[in-house]
Amino acid sequence: MEKFYEKTLLEELHGIQDTYGYIPEEQIIRIAKTKKIPKSQLYGVISFYSMFHIEPRGRYIIRVCNSLSCHLNSAEDVVETIKEFLGIDSGETTLDKKFTLEVVECLGHCGEGPVMLVNNKIYTKLTPQQAISILKECI
Ligand code: FES
Repeated sequence: MEKFYEKTLLEELHGIQDTYGYIPEEQIIRIAKTKKIPKSQLYGVISFYSMFHIEPRGRYIIRVCNSLSCHLNSAEDVVETIKEFLGIDSGETTLDKKFTLEVVECLGHCGEGPVMLVNNKIYTKLTPQQAISILKECI
């Protein structure tokens, strides 16, 4: 019965990710010991799921959709402008750990592209200039 209430591995990884913004090495070692799972197997699980990260990420996670509908509405211009403004490429984090940029698949607002998600807030019908204004508010 006690096992029924035990956190599953994925629940525990989600909790760590929510707390730290990524999954630090010391947490992987701790889980490996407590759950008696080889570290290599844990890394396999973590790398399988794109929502888990083993490197620190930015306080603001910027996701710009570049699926077909947004792409046809010049999402690439938004992405290139953000890259230039932040000095990072897609998948990278600024040195001050403030911003991480990700170019992603559909964010579910296909008729309102280009679409950007900053943490949990969605922005639609975006111009490159609007994107920069939004990011400047985060600085
Ligand atoms: S194609 Fe961009 S939100 Fe769906």
